[in-house]
Amino acid sequence: MIRLTETVLRDANQSLIATRLPFEKFEPILSEMDKAGYYSCEVWGGATFDVCLRFLNEDPWERLRKIREAMPNTKLQMLLRGQNILGYAHYPDDIVRRFVRASVKNGIDIIRIFDALNDVDNLKVAIEETVKSGAMASGAISYTISPVHTLENYVKLVKEMAAMGVGSICIKDMAGLLTPKNAYDLVSAIKDAVDLPVVMHTHCTTGLAFMTYLKGVEAGADVIDTAISPFSGGTSQPATETLSYTLRELGYDTGLDKEALHKIAAYFKPIRAEYLANGTLNPISLTTDTECLQYQIPGGMLSNLLSQLKMLNVPDKFEEALKETPKVREDMGFPPLVTPTSQLVGNMAVQNVLAGERYKNVSSEIKAYCRGEYGKTPAPINEEVRKKILGDVKPIEGRYAETLPTDTFEKAQEKLGDLAKTEEDVLSYIAFPSVAEKFLTERKAKEENVWTFSIEEVK
Ligand code: CO
Repeated sequence: MIRLTETVLRDANQSLIATRLPFEKFEPILSEMDKAGYYSCEVWGGATFDVCLRFLNEDPWERLRKIREAMPNTKLQMLLRGQNILGYAHYPDDIVRRFVRASVKNGIDIIRIFDALNDVDNLKVAIEETVKSGAMASGAISYTISPVHTLENYVKLVKEMAAMGVGSICIKDMAGLLTPKNAYDLVSAIKDAVDLPVVMHTHCTTGLAFMTYLKGVEAGADVIDTAISPFSGGTSQPATETLSYTLRELGYDTGLDKEALHKIAAYFKPIRAEYLANGTLNPISLTTDTECLQYQIPGGMLSNLLSQLKMLNVPDKFEEALKETPKVREDMGFPPLVTPTSQLVGNMAVQNVLAGERYKNVSSEIKAYCRGEYGKTPAPINEEVRKKILGDVKPIEGRYAETLPTDTFEKAQEKLGDLAKTEEDVLSYIAFPSVAEKFLTERKAKEENVWTFSIEEVK
């Protein structure tokens, strides 16, 4: 049997329309989605939290509770960036624990936990607390290609995550770089190493995804991430119905209800058309981009590099910056190129090219990275480069999270005063201070207006 995770409410929503689906837009279809027979629905985490507060004027916690209520029979899943929770800053351990507990309390069943560097020290607290809270931790590999990202090293990581108590292993291929052959080899190696379900996650960006899934399934993958057809393809996942159809024909039972999938697709079709018409869904994100296969650099990073150089009025430096990027990545110990390391490496490459001298202009983020604040790098950082960047500053020994203040929660609570009604409000503020404060202030004003209005009525 092979099961499918539906990503339309989180990753597909995020990849194609910048997470702009408000709750009301998908509420009517939730009960049908609940009947479809998915392994799980990815509905929360990633950018959904930030976008709810920043653009949709929605309380992300309330959204989660409402989805939970409408989908009592389906496992709800979220994406968590380990020690960074949902953003890029590093949080102290007690905040990570509180956030995980609150997520489970509000309805999450499966937390997919990843780290940009695959540093298990950034995963372990989140994994431990997820398991303790009674939910399933899915330990994710941030998939990348480099001389140190060997099957052997991936297997080592998988075994470490298994020892931490994860209930499944996810191969998270953010950029669509996982090829059918490599998927077959990697899934086989993981299946040989641990007795855990393997989940595959990829994007259609490079056009490989359908083939990659098929070879992964052949090698024994248990779950694949797909998106209902109107929100599939391009930078999103492969279509749920297509894979379900193909797998069934090949003799795999998916447990999916064809009728339900048909209704879900019919529901999302006009929504896709609407977002295409209003420009939120850019047709460019629906095309196949094979350039990143050649450079082994995620598509988003290539376009960022180019737009950065255009902004600096030196678009002709693109080739040079492109050549510098893998060199910087090697100096930095081959980090997977995913946010935030993709930005760090890309910016550094541009600076090196513009300055005409390598590591002359160095951002505070690169300095923090070299000090070890982001965690252990896959390979050691080039010692000469590190010395040039840090000077006499010593790198951190051990976990950066343990050097952070332990009164973050209390301080935030104090700062918010009566703006925060629940622990969840405080956590929203810790995750996204300015947007959450604005949201909570407006919420309070709204409530007070209602109150003033009723007084006027009495008069
Ligand atoms: Co993704």
